[in-house]
Amino acid sequence: MDVMDAIAIRRANRAFAGRPVEREKVAALLEAMRLAPSCNNNQPWRVVVCSRENLRSLKETLYRGNEWATAAPLIMAVTSKPSLDCRMNGGRDYYQFSCGLAVGQMLLRATELGLTAHPIAGYDPVKVREAFGIPSDYVVITLVICGYPGEDTSLLTEKQLRQQKERPERLPPSETFFDERWGEPFPE
Ligand SMILES: Cc1cc2nc3c(=O)[nH]c(=O)nc-3n(C[C@H](O)[C@H](O)[C@H](O)COP(=O)(O)O)c2cc1C
Repeated sequence: MDVMDAIAIRRANRAFAGRPVEREKVAALLEAMRLAPSCNNNQPWRVVVCSRENLRSLKETLYRGNEWATAAPLIMAVTSKPSLDCRMNGGRDYYQFSCGLAVGQMLLRATELGLTAHPIAGYDPVKVREAFGIPSDYVVITLVICGYPGEDTSLLTEKQLRQQKERPERLPPSETFFDERWGEPFPE
């Protein structure tokens, strides 16, 4: 699959088929993260992969609105801490940036493998730490909810159903991309 195809096809889907993700596909997702760039090659991500007995306790950490995630057969908790990556002047702590790059690559690889991988922020990080024995100085940056796409949308809210059908709109490029100087819209 072309990278651009994977970028275009990837969606934050919220409906999963029940079947498990094969172990070799899980390994392929982790490999896509492993090869990601990071500041000074620090590789700050520490990822707990959960597809077995701990899955239920992880699902109890989800905030309201994320009930759809309880149907997923695989959840990955992406964690890190500032000291695992470059800490530069000007407020530049790179650990979350590097983890974001690694997750981004993983999402595209998942798309290529026919999977949905959907990062979320809506969970209780204290409970996630407890469920997995994650040390208290680690930030639980995201849970990546993963599985094969399915048809059962019964756990989705009205808004989520709409988003499932149509990708939420993006900001106009003129608000986010600048030409030479801050605020000068980059020509489309
Ligand atoms: C850091 C992050 C946190 C997110 N948290 C949630 C979440 O808690 N629940 C949810 O349903 N979707 C969550 N999403 C998915 C976004 O809502 C989704 O990516 C966005 O609406 C754009 O849709 P698309 O990815 O299908 O293009 C999150 C995405 C990111 C990147």
